[in-house]
Amino acid sequence: MLIAEHISHTYPNGVEALRQFSLQLSAGQFMAIVGPSGCGKSTLLRVLAGLLRPTSGKVWLAGEPVTQPSPRIGMMFQDAALLPWRTVAQNIRLPLELGWRGNAHFSVEELIQLVGLRGFEHAYPRELSGGMAQRVSLARALITRPPVLLLDEPFGALDAMTRENLTAALEGILRATQTTAVMVTHSIAEAVFLADQVVVSSPRPGRPLGIVRVTLPRPRHWGMESWPEFGHLVGQVRALLAQPLVEPARVN
Ligand SMILES: Nc1ncnc2c1ncn2[C@@H]1O[C@H](COP(=O)(O)OP(=O)(O)OP(=O)(O)O)[C@@H](O)[C@H]1O
Ligand SMILES: [Mg+2]
Repeated sequence: MLIAEHISHTYPNGVEALRQFSLQLSAGQFMAIVGPSGCGKSTLLRVLAGLLRPTSGKVWLAGEPVTQPSPRIGMMFQDAALLPWRTVAQNIRLPLELGWRGNAHFSVEELIQLVGLRGFEHAYPRELSGGMAQRVSLARALITRPPVLLLDEPFGALDAMTRENLTAALEGILRATQTTAVMVTHSIAEAVFLADQVVVSSPRPGRPLGIVRVTLPRPRHWGMESWPEFGHLVGQVRALLAQPLVEPARVN
């Protein structure tokens, strides 16, 4: 479904953000990417979204090269970035008004229901909590019914409890809509909770250090966090993150 082949990117100022980053996802799968700050995760998502042309390498979506943004790839950022003068419903509808009409899209009503915002259709962003604003942002990213959704730390600014609620809601929504997703997160537990595969990136320049496959059943619920298997998977991700990149110098 989504393939990234040997993506390397060096910014014009000489910063090498990514080196030979490859990944592969089947339809309906969820991939989480974790890695140290500044290792190139947001750069990778921008390349996958067609927002940034990599120095070398290619992205394929369902067999076609991705070279520019498309209604087939939705993107959700850390900051909800809602337009303050538009209501919830008007914010969700925005991509359609901008001409992002795919073959089939969700109705605003369907999405309001799906993300649990019934009764707030006509509220303005200033009247919403942070978690509600992120629900609007999720609905807006899904309106074109994109087969692929990219999420860059979407819940990073929220408190732990709201974050758990939204993560569980997201899991249900993506299953219901059969969306393929790639999410960057700093939370290892969140990555394991959501993903079929967790990709661990090296420090900059980012490249995959390893993949942890998550076979926990779906639907997932946070009670699973106390399962031995969950703890084992978290440990595997941590071990990859802690892996030394070069042989430590020998001291005699
Ligand atoms: N537009 C840009 N021009 C130049 N350098 C950039 C640009 N955007 C990012 N970088 C650099 O590229 C590297 C990777 O940045 P990126 O934002 O992809 O990291 P990240 O893994 O998303 O970090 P974080 O976890 O903190 O969000 C960093 O060193 C950053 O300074
Ligand atoms: Mg980032």
